[in-house]
Amino acid sequence: MPESPVSVVILAAGLGTRMRSRQAKVLHRAGGACLLDHVIQAAEGIADAGRIMAVVGHQAERVRAEVAHYAIRFELQTEQKGTGHALWVCRGVPELATGRVVVICGDSPLLRGETLQNLLQRHQESGCAATVLTTFLDNPHGYGRILRDETGHVSAIVEEKAASEEEKKVREINSAMYCFEASLLWKHLATLTPNPASGEIYLTDIVAALHAGGHAVAACVVDEPGEVLGINTRIELAEVDSIFRRRKTREMMLAGVTIEQPETVTIDKQVTIGQDTIVGPFTQILGKTQIGAECKIGAGSILANATLGEGVEVLPYSYIEDSTLEASAHVGPFAKLRMNSVVEKGAHVGNFVELKNTRLGAGSKAMHLAYLGDSTIGRKTNIGAGTITCNYDGVKKHRTNIGDASFIGSNSTLVAPVEVGSGAYVAAGSVITDAVPEDALALGRARQVLKESWAKKRREQSGK
Ligand code: UD1
Ligand code: CA
Repeated sequence: MPESPVSVVILAAGLGTRMRSRQAKVLHRAGGACLLDHVIQAAEGIADAGRIMAVVGHQAERVRAEVAHYAIRFELQTEQKGTGHALWVCRGVPELATGRVVVICGDSPLLRGETLQNLLQRHQESGCAATVLTTFLDNPHGYGRILRDETGHVSAIVEEKAASEEEKKVREINSAMYCFEASLLWKHLATLTPNPASGEIYLTDIVAALHAGGHAVAACVVDEPGEVLGINTRIELAEVDSIFRRRKTREMMLAGVTIEQPETVTIDKQVTIGQDTIVGPFTQILGKTQIGAECKIGAGSILANATLGEGVEVLPYSYIEDSTLEASAHVGPFAKLRMNSVVEKGAHVGNFVELKNTRLGAGSKAMHLAYLGDSTIGRKTNIGAGTITCNYDGVKKHRTNIGDASFIGSNSTLVAPVEVGSGAYVAAGSVITDAVPEDALALGRARQVLKESWAKKRREQSGK
C-alpha cells in the first residue's frame, strides 16, 4: 500500500490574551525568530512546505509577512470561534481531503520534527482514526484532560472548566496536537456544536464524536512536556528564549568554539562560527552572521548579519551590522560598522570609528575617532584621528575616494565628492574640497600667525 500523504495545519489565528500585547502571539520572538517560524521548521520535518497550512486571523497580514520566506499556504479565520472552527476553515483545501492531517499549534516553538515523526509512526501502527499527542504533568491545571476507555484508547478530552473533581485528578493532558485520517476528520468535525459556555467550537470534542461513532483514538505520549506546551505569557516566552540560547551555545561549544560565560551570550539559530574562535561575555551574534576560525569577539559586541574571515579580532563593545571583515582584520573597541562596509585583509579600525557603506583597503588603518561614510579607501593608507568624510550636503550623499598608501592627517575634513590620489598627503586639520593628485601634499588650513612675547606683555600690562 502506498504511504498516504501527510499535510500539516498550524493553528495560529488567536491573539493570546495572556501575552497582554497588541501583537498576535505567534509574532513574539524567542531564539531569534518568531514563534510561528520555529513551528514551521518542525512541520517541515514531516511535510513539504506546499502541504503546510497556517490558519491566521489576528494581524494576518503581518503574520504572513513574517514567515513569507517559507513557501507555506495560509487560510484566514476572520473570527476566532475556537480551535475546531479554526480547522473547519480549511475544509475546502484539496490537499487536506485525503491522507493524514496533522494539526499543531503556532505557539509551541520547542516542538521538534522528530516528535511529529513519532506521532505519525504511532498513528500508523495503531491504525486508529486519530492520534492525540499527550504528556503527563504534575500540575495539569488549566489543560484539557485525556480520558481513556477500558481498552486504553482515548474516549474524550475534557477541558478544565467542564471537568469533574475525579477528571481533574487526571495528569495526562492534551497538547492540542493531533494526527487525523482526513476522511473521518471532516465528517466528524462537521457534527461538532459550539460549547454552550463559551460559544466556541472545540477541536477537542472531536475525540468523543469519533469514539461515539465507533472509531478508536490513540494517544502518543511525549516524555518532555516543555516541548509541547504552548507559550501563554511573557514569562514563558523568556524561558523558551533561554532554552533556545542554551541549545545554540552548547552546540557551538561542542563544535569547538570557546564561549566565556555562555549564559550571557545570545547566538541566533542560523549563525555559524569556526573552530577555536573565542566569544566574550555579553555578546550578541545575530541573524545570518558567519564567523571564521580563530577569531576573537570581544565582550559586549553585537554582530548582526556580519561576515568575518579567519583570525579576525573584534575588540569589546563594537557594533557590526551587514558588513564584512576579511581575514586578520582588527576592529574596535567601540567601533560601529554598518551598511555593507568592508574591512579588507589585515586592516585596522580603532576606537570610536564609524564606517558606513565604506571599504577600507587591505592593511589600511583608521585607529581613532573618525567617520568614514560612502568612501572607498585603498591599501596601506593611514586615516588620522578625527578624520571626517562629509558625505551629505543636506540633499544628497556623495562619495570620497582615497588611493593606496596615502596619509590623511589628523582632524581632516574631506568634503565629498572628493578624491585623494595614491601616495598623497593631506596635512592635519585640512578642509579638503578639491581633488588631491597622486603624491601631492594638500594643506587646506590658515597659516599659523605668531606674535612674539604677546602673552608676556599682556601680563605686564595687567599687573598679574
Ligand atoms: C487548547 C486545548 C486544550 C489543551 C491546550 C494545550 C481546545 C479547546 N483546548 O487549549 O485541551 O490542553 O490547548 O495547550 O482546543 N486558535 C485559533 N483560532 C481560534 C482559537 C485558537 O487559531 O479560534 C489557535 C491559537 O492561536 C493557538 C491554538 O489554536 O495557537 C490553541 O488555542 P488556545 O486558545 O491557546 O487553546 P487553549 O485554551 O490553550
Ligand atoms: Ca494555549
